[in-house]
Amino acid sequence: MKNKGILRGIFGKPLHPLAQAYVASIPVDSRLYRHDITGSIAHAKMLAKQKIISEEEADLIVNGLISIGEEIEHGKFNSKPELEDIHMNVEARLFEKIGDVAGKLHTARSRNDQVALDLRLFLKEAILETIDRLKNFQKILITFAEANQKVIIPGYTHLQRAQPVLLAHHILAYFEMFQRDKERFRDCLKRTDVLPLGSGALAGVPYSVDRDFLARELGFAVVSANSMDAVSDRDFVIEYEAAAAIAMMHLSRLAEELILWSSAEFGFIEIDEAFTTGSSIMPQKKNPDLAELVRGKTGRVYGNLMAILTVMKALPLTYNRDLQEDKAGLFSTVDILGTSLEVFTEMVRTLKVNSGRTYEAAGTGHTLATDLADYLVKKGVSFRQAYDIVGEIVKYAISKGKSLSELSLEEYYRFSPTFAEDVYSITVETSVVARKVYGGTAPEQVSEALSRAKRLLESEVEGRSD
Ligand code: ARG
Repeated sequence: MKNKGILRGIFGKPLHPLAQAYVASIPVDSRLYRHDITGSIAHAKMLAKQKIISEEEADLIVNGLISIGEEIEHGKFNSKPELEDIHMNVEARLFEKIGDVAGKLHTARSRNDQVALDLRLFLKEAILETIDRLKNFQKILITFAEANQKVIIPGYTHLQRAQPVLLAHHILAYFEMFQRDKERFRDCLKRTDVLPLGSGALAGVPYSVDRDFLARELGFAVVSANSMDAVSDRDFVIEYEAAAAIAMMHLSRLAEELILWSSAEFGFIEIDEAFTTGSSIMPQKKNPDLAELVRGKTGRVYGNLMAILTVMKALPLTYNRDLQEDKAGLFSTVDILGTSLEVFTEMVRTLKVNSGRTYEAAGTGHTLATDLADYLVKKGVSFRQAYDIVGEIVKYAISKGKSLSELSLEEYYRFSPTFAEDVYSITVETSVVARKVYGGTAPEQVSEALSRAKRLLESEVEGRSD
């Protein structure tokens, strides 16, 4: 290998084996090989275009890089930890393949702008994939909501039955959350879409490089405006991890609800056997492990965010080796969010709803108390007064072990003369239908919301389609 001395600079001594193993990042950053090769190919082409190297040299380099890419793809590449990272491993292999001309590739470049470039290339792809997965998940939520459009469940506050709502309305709440998540990722994409190459080690490069050409070749929207910033900041990584932490938080809330809803206590839904596990000792168990793991893995995603924030905290400009720690957490977060969304998409696809049970639950626990108060308000009673009257009625009903609909008109009269026979027309259905406000749970609003949601997804263009 011809470039043996590169990483040792002016030092005579080889790196201590323990130190060598400690500083190596290849086990993590080998995942960037495709981006590294893509970046290097563009760089070599640019060097030739600017006559910094000859066309023939660039051709040799480009073809060499392409064949290294194929070697890696086919598992025929042996990386060496002593070469530290994927970037040095690819370069060393290029020397083996094309000889000394390989030494020209690193002209007008440093590993500092190279690693920043590779990471940005990687993350741009990952963001589009994340958005795509979020979108697929939203589609399934819509399908599930549509298939259960008439199902009524109790809506909760404080995990106490509060008011009846449509299950579809509840599910569409998650659609909104994931919609905002996508917006956060799109926003993060804008700031990731910046070409750092040309920044060199930190001060820029003393060659007449064409950064706009590089940006076009590599598909970047803009070039970085400050070389020191470009090699040392990782705020785009933090943004991704923050957006991912929020998305996982959303997913964990749904996970928790699925866990609760599938318990015998609720009995609202049944998770398909393909997504539940049994117990080694209790044969009756059907455990919602997938949902539990999504809930659990959210912790790791939060941890990854804390880790990168801490790595970056108070780090002086420009590149510091600490930055090598940016990738492990990012990759972990990309993978956890991606697989969690994939798993949930399939799990929701096969969810079964026990609508008899949800309907019954929606109507018990005095969930129509607010409707009773609204009934009095419509007959001229002030809301606060109505609230007090209904409070007394509920207390009375509880003491008698009755539901509101089981009270006689005579009993109602005792609390207010305003009550009439039509008080019995208050039902779970009328409660839901009454909430016709934009954003409310009335069936007409929910079906409008479903159409809006579908139109929204259809109008979105970026990302791969499923
Ligand atoms: N393996 C390192 C990383 O991923 C590359 C280091 C480049 N720069 C340096 N001055 N050592 O961050």
